[in-house]
Order: sequence, then structure tokens, then C-alpha cells
Amino acid sequence: MEQRDLVIEVNDLRKYYPSKERKSLFKSVKKEVKALNGVELKVNQGEIYTLLGPNGAGKTTLIKILTTLLHPSSGKVKILGMDVIKQAKDVRMHINAMLMGERSVYWKLSGRQNLEFFGALYYIPKREVEERIDFLIKELRIEDIIDRPVESYSSGQKYKISFAKALINDPEILFLDEPTATLDPRSAREMRELIKKVNEQGTTIFLTTHNMMEADEMSHYISILDYGQIIAEGTPQSLKDQFIEDETIHVEIKIDRPINGHLKEIETIPTVVKVAQHIPSNAKEFPVLSVILNDDNGIIDTLRVLQKYKVKVIAMRTKQPTLEDVFLSLTGRRLDEDTSLKRGGK
Ligand SMILES: Nc1ncnc2c1ncn2[C@@H]1O[C@H](COP(=O)(O)OP(=O)(O)O)[C@@H](O)[C@H]1O
Ligand SMILES: [Mg+2]
Repeated sequence: MEQRDLVIEVNDLRKYYPSKERKSLFKSVKKEVKALNGVELKVNQGEIYTLLGPNGAGKTTLIKILTTLLHPSSGKVKILGMDVIKQAKDVRMHINAMLMGERSVYWKLSGRQNLEFFGALYYIPKREVEERIDFLIKELRIEDIIDRPVESYSSGQKYKISFAKALINDPEILFLDEPTATLDPRSAREMRELIKKVNEQGTTIFLTTHNMMEADEMSHYISILDYGQIIAEGTPQSLKDQFIEDETIHVEIKIDRPINGHLKEIETIPTVVKVAQHIPSNAKEFPVLSVILNDDNGIIDTLRVLQKYKVKVIAMRTKQPTLEDVFLSLTGRRLDEDTSLKRGGK
């Protein structure tokens, strides 16, 4: 087998944030949020490596440490063989990142002026920067907007210029924190294609997402992060092979209202392996039950429970197992559940 270089090595990485828990109006106790709790990972040169986990899992914390923006509480991180703390400056020259919610470009400047400015920060000779910019304009198809001020861009175009900025130094590793989370479906698709293209040209990609379809489609390798720990890893297929039993049936039931208190009752049906409820943030959408069963009898029993509490079924379908089911069978929760509110105690 081809022996590839390790470009990221993380050993027993921990990040504890100080926090306070309010006991009463006048009293609060100091606590720690264990955002990362002993993370180990290795990334091979040339791959798209995805960190998949729900909101609050610790993804942003990890990516900030890997990109030298945040100091860990303990543990060791090597990027391209360099220590992220002792050799932070050198590390920064060889990598780049697009982090979430980051207002990363100057709105009054044109796209080109931004790229020239950020290119200069990497001590790239002016002529090389111009060549690089020409290359990126073509690759990202931003000819039409490059000489306009960024403030006149649509949000998708702003995103593209941030992406171009993250590629200006031709990084060996590109870090992307939830690169499609705020994009509309079309722009998200386009962004995924661009990321794949950059990867095909040799750049290692480290990305985070809580979107399991994205992880499935994009990744050579996935680690699932939950409560600051990696709970499973492998290729998309090997994760499904490891954690989904061949004989199980996967059903999604759309219901007219949440069944909160009665979820337990479905859980106790003998042929039901796991059940979780997704309540969409948009009140116009219906809640969805995800049920994993090892016998189709359980479907009828599940419907009986719904009927008993006068919960109407809007739609129902069986589906092929996905990474969502991997997460569900590992944790009993859905990936779109936010865990940041439950932190601290664990
Ligand atoms: N600066 C901070 N101070 C205290 N707690 C934090 C801070 N940043 C993140 N956290 C907490 O650490 C946990 C992990 O957060 P984060 O790394 O942002 O997760 P993710 O990116 O996966 O949503 C969450 O519980 C979050 O509330
Ligand atoms: Mg995050």
C-alpha cells in the first residue's frame, strides 16, 4: 500500500473553558466546559478529512487550535511536522482557513485589492500573487466581480472571495469550519464542488460539518465528534458497515406535533432499536421521528403509540441507512440536536 505522509497529528488534546454556573441570583460556582476531552487524530496528505458532529461538539474549538488561533489546555498538535504552539508562525505560512462567521475581507476594497493585500501577508512576491489571483479568478469564475467593491457582492459572491482569500498562499492544508452552513442549497453545492476541485489539485482539506450528507459525499475519512471526544471514525462506507446492522429497518415518520413525553414508550417496544425526534426550528415544518427497528412489526407498534396519543402521521418512508443512523445508533440522538446547552456536567 502507498505510504502517505501524515500532515496533522493530534495527541490527547484537551480544551477546558472556564465557565460559571448560576445557582441563584447572588451565587454562582466556577465550572469548566470540557470542549475537547482527549482528542486523537491523524490526517493523511491529500485527503478530505471531515470532523462530523452536532452543534456544541467542539468542532470550532478544534479547528481554531489546529490553525494556531487558540491555545489548548493540554495535548500535542503537529501540523506538517511542526508544533502549533512553538512554531505557530511557520505553521501559518503553510496553511490557510475559512472559519465560520468570520468577517474576513474588507468590504470597501475590491476583491482583487483584498487578494493582493492578503497575498502580501504571506511575503509572496508581487508577480506571483498576480499569477495566483489570475488562477483563482478563473477557477472560482469571479471575473465579473473581482474589480468591484466587496460590499456590492451578493452573499454567495462574498463567500467566494473569502474562499479565494483562503487559497491565496496555495496552502498545503486548507481548514474549513462548516463551509456551507449558511449557504442556500445551490451555493452550497457549488462550494462543495470547488472544495473537491481544490483537493484534486493536491491540497489536503480538513473540514467540519454537522451535515451528514455533506460528510458522506465529500470525505475520504470521517471522525465523529461528540461532547469533545471522537466516538467513531473511518471512511463513510466503513462507518456504515461498522455501526449499522444489515438486518435493521430505518423509518422516518413525519408527525403533526411533537410527542416529547411519549418517546420513551416507543423506545420500550422490543423490536425498536433506537428512536429520536427532530423538531425543526422552522415552526412551519413538521417534527420527524427517526426509528431504527429490527423487525417490521415494530412499525405497527410505533403507529399504535402515536394513535393512542392522537398524534397524526403526515408521511412515512423507509430509507437507506445513512451517517445520521450511525450517529443515532451510537448516541441515541440526532446530529441536528444542539449539545452546547447541555455541556459542563459531562
Ligand atoms: N469561549 C468559550 N467560553 C466558554 N465556552 C465555550 C467557548 N467557546 C465554546 N464554548 C463551549 O464549548 C463547547 C464546544 O463549542 P464549539 O467548539 O463552538 O462547538 P461546535 O463548533 O462543534 O459547535 C460548547 O459547549 C460551547 O458552548
Ligand atoms: Mg462551530
